Amino acid sequence: MTTTTEKDPTMTPRTDLLTAVINLDLPGPRISRHIYGHFAEHLGRCIYGGFYVGEDSSIPNEGGIRLDVVEALRALKIPNLRWPGGCFADEYHWRDGIGPRDERPRMVNSHWGDIVEDNSFGTHEFMQLCELLGADPYVSGNVGSGTVQEMSEWVEYLTRADESPMATLRRSNGRDEPWDLPFFGLGNEAWGCGGNMTAPGYAHLARQYATYVRNHGDRPVYKIAAGANVEDYRWTETLMKALADLGGAGATQHQHFQALSLHYYTYNQSWEDKGDATSFDTEAYYTTMKRARRMEELIRNHAAVMDSYDPERTIGLVVDEWGTWWNVEEGTNPGFLYQQNTLRDALVASVHFDIFHRFADRVVMANIAQTVNVLQAMILTDPDSGALVLTPSYHVFEMNSGHHDADSLSVGIKGTVPTRDVEGSALPLFSASASVTGDTALVSLSNLDESTARTVVLDLRGRTVTGSSARVLNAPTLQTHNTPENPDAVAPVAHTGIRDHAHGLEVDLPAHSYVTVQLHLGSAG
Ligand code: AHR
Repeated sequence: MTTTTEKDPTMTPRTDLLTAVINLDLPGPRISRHIYGHFAEHLGRCIYGGFYVGEDSSIPNEGGIRLDVVEALRALKIPNLRWPGGCFADEYHWRDGIGPRDERPRMVNSHWGDIVEDNSFGTHEFMQLCELLGADPYVSGNVGSGTVQEMSEWVEYLTRADESPMATLRRSNGRDEPWDLPFFGLGNEAWGCGGNMTAPGYAHLARQYATYVRNHGDRPVYKIAAGANVEDYRWTETLMKALADLGGAGATQHQHFQALSLHYYTYNQSWEDKGDATSFDTEAYYTTMKRARRMEELIRNHAAVMDSYDPERTIGLVVDEWGTWWNVEEGTNPGFLYQQNTLRDALVASVHFDIFHRFADRVVMANIAQTVNVLQAMILTDPDSGALVLTPSYHVFEMNSGHHDADSLSVGIKGTVPTRDVEGSALPLFSASASVTGDTALVSLSNLDESTARTVVLDLRGRTVTGSSARVLNAPTLQTHNTPENPDAVAPVAHTGIRDHAHGLEVDLPAHSYVTVQLHLGSAG
């Protein structure tokens, strides 16, 4: 830990270093903690084996919910959890997942492995999971194959306090008090697995379904329409227009949705051959980082469309599926989307968060896909021993938890950011973001250069810095990952490469590393 009470004028500043200028006294839009949200679908071993093992399991559990997974996610201050899908949401019928477990009807999970789902994890189990996690539930309703009545009654079942039919049904299943349901999704990927709809067709349905998702009592539901795939700006425009058309006299909050979603995944070669999670070369690494940084272009362009209809930025953009999508691990069910997670995935995550922080005035929520055992997971569990491993991506979420609900700070770069040519354009090899809350600031720094270490100067203005500490996430190679045998191959450690500088601090960034610097602040300087 270094301590800088005042800037030291006697120190000669080095001018050859990259400088990140941060005005600590000029806070920008607040970074919602909900951009650190998660996603749990009935897919592969995410729910069954991941979150839920059943009450008879030898793995310590409460009501069948794994307590080691709960503990690990609580340490991340997990703000919300999206469920039950994904594609699964649009073929899920919630009434199949309530009542005595051994009497629940079965169904085929046609999207994910064509396996039989026994519905033993349903509404009550999900809400109990959220309570254990201290996370807000984000439930995705079924527009693709469900009815308006079915959706309306699910929300009544969850949130109504009196003796209404659905509240009575809930009580008969053992839950007296209604739950809060802060977030509700009006279907998922309506342009694809959620019904293969056109934008105008879905916009029409979203308005219809939203009308019957009622706020019962003082439990408001924030409704999220199924938004665009990647660069489908026309989809966003159509939904914004559908909202604008509702703005006239007589429109009520029930008729509106408050946000649109956006889905974008990072993968390498092609949709058919996405590349391997652990076996990749230098070129594939840089291609990945280029694809990850594309999130900035996508948010900027979708936000521009939204701005033209909603200049006050009252409608949220919810990136409720993002992350890496690799070829499944050899020997695993192709429909289960199980993949390893390396230091490369961690850098994909850190770059995404820098982007989300920069668009904090529009991006109100984001959900990495998915929390356990699927795609860019936080946690991998061994199917045989049950052993739990925290992934490198988990550590980025944990290192960034100081950004939750903090005020964003812009980071201005002086000097030339090193770049690398990737597919004909320059990929910046440095990424940063910062935030302030009270007397603490957090700076996130990613060195994306595979082989070159760099030192960056933090030119800290506007307030005195009374102390600092840093942590680093790094490993000998980008392919390094955690396993039950070596669970801490990639794990954060205290970073000693931080020194006072005439303008603030000098921070060493090892090649392919992620560093966070926590600053303790005094008065305006
Ligand atoms: O996260 C896996 C799948 O990806 C989701 O079910 C779907 O919404 C998306 O295509």
